[in-house]
Formats: sequence, C-alpha cells, structure tokens
Amino acid sequence: MTETVIPVRGDSTYAVIVGHKVLDRVTDLIGGSASKVALLHPPTLRDLADRVMSSIAAADIEVLALEVPDGEAAKTSGVVDMIWNALGEEGFTRTDVVVGLGGGATTDLVGFIGATWLRGVRTVLIPTTLLAMVDAAVGGKTGINTSAGKNLVGAFHPPAGVLCDLDCLATLPRADLLAGMAEVVKGGFIVDPRILDIVESDPVGCTQPGGPRLRELIERKIQVKADVVAGDLRERIGPELGREVLNYGHTFGHAVERIENYRWRHGDAISVGMVYVAELARIEGLLSDADVARHRSILTSLELPVSYAPGRWDDLLAAMRVDKKARGDMLRFVVLDGIGKPRILEGPSEESLRAAYEEVSS
Ligand SMILES: NC(=O)c1ccc[n+]([C@@H]2O[C@H](COP(=O)([O-])OP(=O)(O)OC[C@H]3O[C@@H](n4cnc5c(N)ncnc54)[C@H](O)[C@@H]3O)[C@@H](O)[C@H]2O)c1
Ligand SMILES: [Zn+2]
Repeated sequence: MTETVIPVRGDSTYAVIVGHKVLDRVTDLIGGSASKVALLHPPTLRDLADRVMSSIAAADIEVLALEVPDGEAAKTSGVVDMIWNALGEEGFTRTDVVVGLGGGATTDLVGFIGATWLRGVRTVLIPTTLLAMVDAAVGGKTGINTSAGKNLVGAFHPPAGVLCDLDCLATLPRADLLAGMAEVVKGGFIVDPRILDIVESDPVGCTQPGGPRLRELIERKIQVKADVVAGDLRERIGPELGREVLNYGHTFGHAVERIENYRWRHGDAISVGMVYVAELARIEGLLSDADVARHRSILTSLELPVSYAPGRWDDLLAAMRVDKKARGDMLRFVVLDGIGKPRILEGPSEESLRAAYEEVSS
C-alpha cells in the first residue's frame, strides 16, 4: 500500500510519513544539505538502526551511529552531555542532521539534542512505538528529566520530518501497544469520534500490528495532533483551548503515575484518568451516563484499566495539586461537554472531585 503524508503546519511545515516499508524515505527527510548524520537509537533497536544506516550511507552521507540508553534512562543531562561531546568531536555543523530512532523517550532526547546543538539543527524522527508515532514525535515538544521531575527541561523544536514505519510495531510488546491505544482513543473523545466508532466496530482488529484498522487509527490520531498543534482547531474547540485539549485524562493520570512512582505505563494511567474525568463531567452535568459508559466499554475492549485502588484519595488530590496544569490554587480539567466537545472545567468542588474518585475506585 502507498504511504500517507500528513503535513503538520507551522512556521516551517513538516511531513509525517506513515506506511509500510518506508524507512528508505529517511534520506528525503534528511534533505540535500547534510554531509553528516548522527543516528541515535537504543541498543534494542540495533537491527533497525543498521537498516536506516545503510539507506543513509547509500545516499553518500556519512553516518555516525550513537547508542543511547534504553527508554527513560536516555533522558538525562549526562546522556545529553555525552552526545554533545560526540557531535563536537565529529565536527557536526549547522547543516548536519540528527536522526532519532526509538520510542518517545528516544525521540524526546533526540529532539532536545536537535534543539540545542549549535542552537538548533535539522532533526528527523523515526518513532518505533505506537505512543511515539501518535504523540511524542509529533508536535515539536522535546525534553529530558531532572532530579526535580520528569520533562522539566526542554525546548520547542519541531522536527524536519517524521517517519512512521508501521512494520516497526510488529516487535512492540502488546502491553506497550495497548498503552499507546489510550492516546489514540483520547483523540477520539476530544476531536475525532470516528476513532471511537472504528474501535467499537472491531477492537481486536484495531490492535493487530500490520492491520488496516490500526493504520487508519494511527493516521487519524496523528491528524488530530497535527491540527491541534497547528492551532487549526482553536475555533472549533473554543478560544481558550489550544494544546491544552491534549491533556484530556492527564490531570488524574499524571497523579496516578506520580503516586505509583512511574511504574505504571503512561497510557494505562491516562486510561483511568479519562474515566475519572468523564465521571467528573457527569457529576457536573456535562456528560450523559451513556457517554461515561462508552469510555469504560471502549477502554475495557482494549484491555486498558478503568479503575484505580480505593483509599488513595488524599495522595491523588495532593499529586493533582502539584501537577503543572493546576494554575494557582484551582484545579483545571479538560472535560467533555459531549463527545468531541472539549472544554475547561476550573475549580470543581472537592465534593465533586471525590465523588468522581469513588466512581473509579469502587
Ligand atoms: N514530546 C511529547 O510531546 C511527548 C508526548 C508523549 C510522551 N512523551 C514521552 O514519551 C516517552 C514514552 O514513550 P514510549 O512509551 O514510546 O517509551 P520508550 O521510548 O521508553 O519505549 C518503550 C520501550 O519500548 C522499546 N521499543 C521501542 N520501539 C520498539 C519496537 N519497535 N519493538 C520493541 N521494543 C521497542 C524501547 O526500547 C523501550 O524499552 C516518555 O518519556 C514521555 O515523556 C513525549
Ligand atoms: Zn499523554
């Protein structure tokens, strides 16, 4: 099947290419001006990296392969320092390019290297997890962790192009694929309800790597993110809601991640977070019982969690209050005023907040 090209509009519009066996397209995204490319990847993806290296070398571009630690261990100032040193030793210039191959942790790191080396060089991202394809690699947010917390240091640096080779998903552990589906479904609730229809029509088929349904869902979710980051949806979803709409389910989800010391997968936490905020919207008179039930049934059909342990309310509330989305003393939630109609709910009462927790923890 042919590839799909999704433009992400902005100061410099870039393409997200989605398809099977599209790794060779990396050279087009690198562009003609590079004489050197640094290819960063975790050790687990060495075979894939070899294939990308061969494509780049075949275009007569010198490639420096740099292995970075797996997953979150890559998002540290120590790793950044090591890469900066390597680029310096190899004489990387403003016209050279960094390429990141891996999950969202790798693409966040490589985006940050691209943003900072010589105050910004061309960056090409090749996301290899579902989460990275539909979320982390698109939108230009880059960052690393510090001892003070996750993603506290970073920069906006849109990539020059993103390459989603669907064949990469074949080796992804199923739990990671399902966790990525939580972000796909989020796109359905906030903007594109067709995503929900597709999942409901065939939840099993939707999680088959290589299948047409998963491809359509990936493309739709990338389109949602592309529209949101380009500001295209601002009118439809109200003037106050730009990128913040992407935080649907995240206030409660982040609190779960925090009190679980980040042992939960992000997508699992967001899944419960969406049910929580759906319950909150129902309590506030915004969402119908049927729409809340739809959250549970869709997420359950994808084997995602829809409840959290009882007896943790005080910890959760404290964690929500320190989440960066809280402004001043008031908690802010992206809620739905009907499916596909997001809005902000600011400062709901503690009674409502707790009642919604009772609904997800009993
Ligand atoms: N910048 C953003 O806008 C944004 C948005 C969402 C998430 N993120 C970031 O993304 C990160 C999470 O992303 P993630 O879930 O992809 O995690 P990850 O990068 O840690 O990858 C998860 C695991 O999957 C492995 N892996 C990657 N591709 C594989 C493949 N094709 N086959 C088998 N194994 C593979 C990795 O080696 C790793 O062990 C977090 O650091 C988060 O902060 C960023
Ligand atoms: Zn998320």
